[in-house]
Order: sequence, then structure tokens, then C-alpha cells
Amino acid sequence: MLSRHERRFGWALPGLLLLLPCAARPAAQDRAVKLAGERRVGFNESWLFHRGEAPGAERPEFIDAKWRALELPHDWAIEGPFDRSFSPHSGGLPFFGVGWYRKHFSLPPSARGHRVSIEFDGAMANSRVWLNGQGLGGRPYGYIGFALDLTPHLRWDGRENVLVVRLSPEAQSSRWYPGAGIYRNVWLDVTGPTHVARWGTYVTTPAVSDERAEVAIQTRVQNDSDAAQRVTIETTILDASNEEVARASTVETIPTRGGKTIDAHLVVARPRRWDVEHPYLYRIVSSLRDGVSAIDRYVTPFGIRAIEFDKTRGFLLNGRHIKMQGVCLHHDLGALGTAINRRALERQLEIMQGMGVNAIRTSHNPPSPELLDLCDRLGLLVMDEAFDMWGQPKVPNGHGKYFTEWGETDLRDMIRRDRNHPSIVLWSIGNEILEQGDPKGGKIAKRLTTICHAEDPTRPVTAAFNRPMEAIKNGLAAAVDVPGFNYQPSHYEAILRDHPDWIVVASETSSCVSSRGVYHLPIEKYAKHPSLQLTSYDVIAPDWAYAPDVELAAQERFPQILGEFVWTGFDYLGEPTPYFGWREQGTEHDWPARSSYFGVVDLAGFPKDRYYLYQSAWTREPMVHILPHWNWEGREGQLIPVVAYTNADEVELFLNGRSLGRKGRGSEPMEIPVGPNVSASLKFSTKYRLLWQVPFEAGKLRAVALREGAPVASDERETAGPPARVRLVPDRAQIHADGDDLSFVTVRVEDSRGNLCPLADNLVRFSVAGVGRLAAVDNGNPATLEPFQASQRAAFNGLCLLIVRSKREESGQIQITATSDGLQPAQIAIASVRD
Ligand code: GAL
Repeated sequence: MLSRHERRFGWALPGLLLLLPCAARPAAQDRAVKLAGERRVGFNESWLFHRGEAPGAERPEFIDAKWRALELPHDWAIEGPFDRSFSPHSGGLPFFGVGWYRKHFSLPPSARGHRVSIEFDGAMANSRVWLNGQGLGGRPYGYIGFALDLTPHLRWDGRENVLVVRLSPEAQSSRWYPGAGIYRNVWLDVTGPTHVARWGTYVTTPAVSDERAEVAIQTRVQNDSDAAQRVTIETTILDASNEEVARASTVETIPTRGGKTIDAHLVVARPRRWDVEHPYLYRIVSSLRDGVSAIDRYVTPFGIRAIEFDKTRGFLLNGRHIKMQGVCLHHDLGALGTAINRRALERQLEIMQGMGVNAIRTSHNPPSPELLDLCDRLGLLVMDEAFDMWGQPKVPNGHGKYFTEWGETDLRDMIRRDRNHPSIVLWSIGNEILEQGDPKGGKIAKRLTTICHAEDPTRPVTAAFNRPMEAIKNGLAAAVDVPGFNYQPSHYEAILRDHPDWIVVASETSSCVSSRGVYHLPIEKYAKHPSLQLTSYDVIAPDWAYAPDVELAAQERFPQILGEFVWTGFDYLGEPTPYFGWREQGTEHDWPARSSYFGVVDLAGFPKDRYYLYQSAWTREPMVHILPHWNWEGREGQLIPVVAYTNADEVELFLNGRSLGRKGRGSEPMEIPVGPNVSASLKFSTKYRLLWQVPFEAGKLRAVALREGAPVASDERETAGPPARVRLVPDRAQIHADGDDLSFVTVRVEDSRGNLCPLADNLVRFSVAGVGRLAAVDNGNPATLEPFQASQRAAFNGLCLLIVRSKREESGQIQITATSDGLQPAQIAIASVRD
């Protein structure tokens, strides 16, 4: 429903509702810009791409007839192939080198007089941009968005314009997989000469109560014309049902070739608060009028919420204490690479919320705008992080090279872009910055913190320290509002005792490693198991890290700590710790490990056991989860450690109907034996896990969780027979026919009774017909070089994943068939519907 305001004035950019016919270019190259009322239009279609050097490609007359036609967002490196010389640290994918993009487009003569700029949400990396042969600039940092004014060099007479982008991501520029290409969305912003500036609104809610909320809005109006402009600026707040709830109007004169910031103070009566449980969003519509004509309309979603950080009470949202149950996430989307996709991100966040996550740390760089929109909408708190390094490099070609020249601009831009998101509660100026050990570190931290405060005084600034004593000594920790500590549960007591005024966050925790569905017996200690897989008993971690339980206990002990951010929510491409450079007798044993083992969820999005350990600590809905699988043929009679994670009081375990006893959650120590010396053990508390030593016997293992003596949840593992069939389970059986939407189809290898075969590695072949196409495949195995863009995938411990994408404006059925030698095939249909 339109607001009163919209009904009265309506709105469209005058003269810009157009669609030009195509000129003579390849049929796929629809070159005419379609402008349909909104000032910002997607500019992702009909690009041409070339990998490698292309001398002269910036000139409009350059012949690109043989270049590949594609749509953005695009990550060229995810296409592979994997190669060990591409550095397993970054995923062994070709993310460096040179890539060119060209786009031919035309504008109608009636567009003349408007101002047109192009906005890149992010291009990886070292971008340079030309329009019609004129260099416009670019940006070294691939994670920050940038805009360029096209207006002076545009051809307005219907003739073709040629926009060219050159990217040159460097080898050794990242500690993880950065991706390569124009991997985020591109937009055209078309306005009149007088308009709301880019990121031109800044909304805060200085006072919020049940009765009323004060909403302060600063609006930057820009006038690029040769005369001062007198304009009416109307600021309207709409609720989620589009009803107007507050409005202010003022008439201002905007100086020629300059701008003016206009303050509006509005009151919303009985506000609906943005909260993690009820993420209610309002919108501000900023409308500019010149006499009676509407000349601009700029929409800013925002939330009404109060945040407080308190040294004894921790973090309060709308007056209520919330412990941050956070995860760190890198930006890749697994098999889809880094090319931004809204649904893929939404799925990641939904899976995280399923384990009780309420906070995300955007490690270690500014995220896509879509991630923040989703966190606003889903009710997730965000620590928005700017850098993994300042001037001192962690890798030779990282952002450290550009920090002196660009660091401040990158940081300011991140905050200006992001500061209206209610989800963001902390700005992070860096992760494990090497200047922690440098006497200059404190000074730099102070300068960056001051910049953050100037851009947004409403949120505290943090930084993540892994060398706390050095960071404290050189003043870095004191320079930020909220010192963040990575992997320091053993120091919390001393830090809080010595600095009683500090508000502290556990910015990075645990770094437990495991491969989904892998259980080595005896359980190995942290080492490079020759299988290139790591046990999923959730006990092992590198020497700076530790099992999840350790941090969970520390967080309970120190409720004033804001909470923790687990490394990591999802596995990510690159950093396959511990498999780095392990050579023996001239053989490299760590390849093809090419993605991380840190994820609570694997790269394909399948939860590892740890998911349920966190779920047991972070959620109340009764649950129990047991591990391992129950296929131990050949080990009959041998003791198998069976572990249960539950949020109930106790668990009773049954084997083939016989009770193996009840175990209650308490605080007693419990020992998990590890090999090779099986008398060695790791100590845990029964608070977070329960353990039985069960002599193996094929059949059914069943766990029943009890609260106050009554059964509330159960879980079971049954010894599976040989693989008999493939089963397809889509996460959504109906998707949007918009060319972007995805269905994530879980592919299960099952025995004849429908049990998952937990060791199956059958190769599954896919065909996708109808109104969809195959986007990617995966199986969550961190040590395989099978390509992600393929029509087949081997199962990894019984599972693989097929990702199917809709076709734009083609509605109907997507038929999916999965076959595997010797197994009964599977077939399903997914509906793709136009909105
Ligand atoms: C941290 C670092 C992360 C990741 C992690 C692995 O020290 O901040 O980026 O490398 O270690 O445990």
C-alpha cells in the first residue's frame, strides 16, 4: 500500500521510463539501459569478459567480439582448475592475474542533463575503470564498494558507450580465498543534478522507549548544477506495512556545485523495536521537490533499537542482556565462490541461526551489502570488520601495501555505507594486526578509532588481538572502546582483574578442526592425519586453539564479556590448517587439502557434529545429537566412544533396545581417550558432552534426552546396509524465476531402508532440465580437486550437494535426475515461479 505521501505526489524520474532498441551487437548483448522509475538500477547484465592481458582493451574501438558474454556477479577463479602452485593457502584456485570486463550500453537522448554514476559493491581487486576511453579511477581494496561519475564522458545521443574494467588481483594477497572478478553487484545511479548524495542519509535513534522513539536523520543534498537550487526536502518514516508514521518537511537552498546537510528530528509513537527476535524494519523516504516536481526519492531502511555496552552487564539490546553467540564468516559461498548470491547467503545465515547463532563477525573485511540487509531482516547482530592488516603485511601483496594511501578512505567508506544498519553493533578496525607488537600500534589504533567515532559516534570500536599482552602494553587495547581477544580464555580473569573498566569481547574463539562424518579410532590428537581428514569428535585444534567447550565454560564464568565469535561458522576456501607444507621423503602430503577444517558447518552447508554442541549450549528447544555413525564392521566387541550433545538434563542411551544407562549433565570431569597411546585422554566436563564407551554390535543406537525425567528429544544411528539408492532433498521445492534464486539439493546415498550410508563415496551424476540450470556441486570434502562446476560429484561420507539456479522469467518445472552406478536413481521437480 502506498503511503499518503506517495499517493499524493507519486514519483518517477521524469523522462527516464525508457527502453531503447538494441544496436547491431551480438544478440545476447542487450545494450539499452532500462530505467524504470527507481534512481538505482542493476547493471549486471550483458558484460564481456577476457582473462589475461588485452593491450588496448580500454579503448572503445577495441574488438571484443570473441570475449565471453556473462552476467555479473562473477568470480573467475572458482571456475578452476585447482593447482597446488596457486597456493593452497588461498584455496589452490587461480584468483590472481589479469581479468578484463567490457560493457556496451546506450542511453536515450532524454537522459541528457541527468547525472549518472556507476557503483561497484566490490571488485577483486586493484580495479581500473574507463568510460569511452577516459580513465575514471578505481580501487585497490576488493572488499570495499566504490562509485565513479560517468556523466562527463557519456554519449547521450543514443550512440554506444563502452565501459571497461581491468582487475589485477595479486598472488600472495590474502590468507584465504579472496575470489577474483566483479564478484559483487554493479549499479547505475541516475539522478537529476540536485539529489540526495550517495550514502546521503544517516539515521540514529538517540532515545527509545515503549512510548516513543526519537529518530534523527541527517540528509546530505547535493547540487551539481550551475545555480543554487531551492528545494523542498520531505522526510517520511514508513512502517513495515508502508504506513506513514512520521514526516517532516523543509525548504532549503542548496549552493551551486556543493551540498548541504539537513537535520530532521522525528518522533515515532509506540515504536516497534528492532530486536534479534523481532527484527522490525522501518524505512525513511527522502523526497526532494523543486516547486511541484518530484526530483529525487531516496529510501533508507532502518531499525529502532537501543544498544548499550556495560562493563558489568555486557551487551544490552533494548535494555535486555544478550550474550553474543557469534560466528566469524569469510565471504565465500563455497562451491559458488565469492560471486554474491542473496539466497546462498541467506541459507548460510539461516543454517547459523538454526544452531543458535545471534551474531556475525565479517572476518576480516567489509561484507557485501546483501549480508547486512539479511542480518537486518533475520535479526543477527554484526561486528563489521575493516581489515586483516594495516601497514605491516601478513602476506606480501595484501592490503598492507595500500593501507597508507587508502586505509582511511576504506574505513570511512565502510562506515558511511553501513551505519544505517540496525544489525551492526560494533565496528572492528582490524584482526590480529601485526602492529600489536609495534610501539606505533597504539597511535594508529587511536587514529582509526577517532575516524570511526567521527563517522558514527553511536557504536563502539573494537579490534581483535591475539597477542593480548603486547596489545595492552603498547596502548592498542586501550585505544579502542571494546578490546577484542582472540583465543584467550585463559587470560580473561587477569585481563578483567587488571582492567576493571574494560568492556571485552571474545572476538575469535575455538578454531576446532574436523571433517564432517569422519571418526578416526583411536581418536587422534591434533596432527596431520594421513587421510587428509580430521576426526569429528570435536576435540582437536591447533596449538593456539581449543575445543568449543573451553570457551563456552569461560563465557559462562565471565558473563560480563560480550560473548564469543567462533572460528568459523562455515568452512571456507583456503587455509586448510593443518595441511600446510608437510613434506616427507620428497612428497608433499598436504595437497589436495584446499579448504578449511575450522567450520562448524562444512563447505557444502552440511552441519558437522560441533553444530549440535553449540546448539546444545545456545538454544532451549529440546535436542539431543549423538556421534559417531554406527558402521564399525570388523570392530565387533571393541569399545566405541559414543558422545551425546544435549540441552536436556540427562540422556539415556540404548543399543538394540537395551539401556546402556542414563547420564546427567553436570560439572564432573569426563575423559575422552585419544590415541595412539589409548591411555592418554582429553578432559571435558559433562556439562557440554556425555560419553559412553559402547562395545560395537551392529544395529540401532538410540539416545533419549530427558528433562525432569520426561523424554523430550531423541536421536539415533543405525548400522546402514550397502548403498542401494540415491535420494534428493531440496531445501526449497519452489523458487523464484529471476535467474538468481537457488535450490540447494541434498543428495543422500541410502541403503534399502533409507538409512544414510555414512561411509559412501559413490559418484553421482546429475541432469537438470526445464527452466533451471546446474549452478555448482560440492560434497564438503576439504581435500578433493573435483571441480565445483560439473555435473557429477562423489559423495563424501554419504552426502553431496547439487545447487540449481532458476532461469530469468522462465516459469515452470525444473526436473532433476541423479544417477549412480548400481544404485536406484532419483528424480524430483522444483517449481520456478514468476513473482
Ligand atoms: C586466527 C586468524 C584467522 C584464522 C584463524 C585460524 O588467528 O585471525 O583469520 O587464521 O586464526 O585458527
